[in-house]
Amino acid sequence: MNELKQSITDKLNSHEETQRQLAYIQKAGEYVRKLEQELGHKPTCCVTTFGCQMNARDSEKLSGILERAGYELIEDEDADFVIYNTCTVRDNANQRVYGRLGHLNSLKKKNPHKKIALCGCMMQEPSVIEKIRQSYRFVDLIFGTHNIYKFAELLVNMFEADGMVIDIWQDTDQIVEDLPVERKYPFKSGINIMFGCNNFCSYCIVPYVRGRERSRSPRDIIREIESLVADGVVEVMLLGQNVNSYGKNLEEPMTFAQLLREIEKIQGLKRIRFMTSHPKDLSDELIQVMKESTKICRHLHLPLQSGSSRILNAMNRRYTKEQYLALAEKIRREIPDISITTDIIVGFPGEEPADVDETIDVIQKVQYDNAFTFIYSKRTGTPAAAMENQVPEEVVKEGFDRVLKVVQDTARERVSRLQGQTMEALVEEVNEQDASLLTGRLSNNTIVHFKGDKKLIGQIVPVYLKECHGFYYLGEAVK
Ligand code: 5AD
Ligand code: SF4
Repeated sequence: MNELKQSITDKLNSHEETQRQLAYIQKAGEYVRKLEQELGHKPTCCVTTFGCQMNARDSEKLSGILERAGYELIEDEDADFVIYNTCTVRDNANQRVYGRLGHLNSLKKKNPHKKIALCGCMMQEPSVIEKIRQSYRFVDLIFGTHNIYKFAELLVNMFEADGMVIDIWQDTDQIVEDLPVERKYPFKSGINIMFGCNNFCSYCIVPYVRGRERSRSPRDIIREIESLVADGVVEVMLLGQNVNSYGKNLEEPMTFAQLLREIEKIQGLKRIRFMTSHPKDLSDELIQVMKESTKICRHLHLPLQSGSSRILNAMNRRYTKEQYLALAEKIRREIPDISITTDIIVGFPGEEPADVDETIDVIQKVQYDNAFTFIYSKRTGTPAAAMENQVPEEVVKEGFDRVLKVVQDTARERVSRLQGQTMEALVEEVNEQDASLLTGRLSNNTIVHFKGDKKLIGQIVPVYLKECHGFYYLGEAVK
């Protein structure tokens, strides 16, 4: 079959699949109504998210389907249906899920109608499924990352089955559009622009649990953003494991920078963010588009992972310390007001204190606004897990503390450079600790808390940045 025909067939399949799933939502709705009669109240559901922005977006899709099927969304795991959307990037994410499942079981004993579902990255690991089958038999439904679009159908299967329903796929090339979504924020939204990852960094489990790279068509992306904007969205976050390789596998290839140019044209859209950029693929064209744009936020998340070229090589990152530094310098030269944030791993196999010194050197040279520092976690099936020179825990801890201290000191100094300026903030919510304050986000991703009326939520307002407190500001609304 030639490529064009294949793509039309894919589109038809995708449309048919959407129709099938919408029919399943109706069918699930019948079961939910039946349950309502038995319970005497509208059945409630709770979606708990672990992990990254991708998972947060997937959870909005799960919530959209549950709501359309007739559930009331609540944030309490006492609900009649609870789903955990899991992460497996580090082992502590897995441990948290196991820990909380015990509590869910005790809630289920009190509510025999309660259903429990698990999905997401962790479910793509065969050893996890085995463990749940054996030790967590009270779980009703398990599915993975590739068939999440079938959630409505799986719900129906769950209502009709006697025991645990398990449906895990190894991969998919299916992208199903136009299913219901329930957004957490009315004024901002994540948008998937691509799924999966082809990079195979040697420590990372993502390529195994999220499959190969697939880009959504630019038309579908633009259409989705346009309808979000019509629905009140002013800020979008374009999501992909490596957005810089967007479009390579489309039948009409397109670069990420070209996609950004198209999105910039959407009227009514005020801010564009994206996540995550791999340094090896960040093009001059992208820097140029960011520089010229009035909508792309002044923030770049550029994961470093390690500052040692030797360790970067073992990590299969495909850049050296010098190349990373040159890139960061070029970005700063072209876009001086940008903030750069990063991810760092400490304790990769074979890492020595001298390698940690190199990482610290990069932190000091780049001057990150923030850096997420992680202790290396051995993920079964990845090349790094089989490496013999795993670093002893005390050595890792010592390196981690050193890195963290430098990260905090540099970030404090870097973030405080804005003190005394007035900048625009998108007001996101009422502050969780102090209800008299609102929380806003600057274009460069820095958070500012200030007194104001909650009617401002969703608006972009000028805020005077009065006092810097480490990673955030206390400010004042400018009248
Ligand atoms: N151990 C520790 N951190 C990891 N990350 C990915 N895999 C691992 C691992 N095995 C970190 C990377 C990545 C971020 C999302 O998680 O820093 O950028
Ligand atoms: Fe976690 Fe990675 Fe899955 Fe995101 S894509 S939920 S970080 S394992």
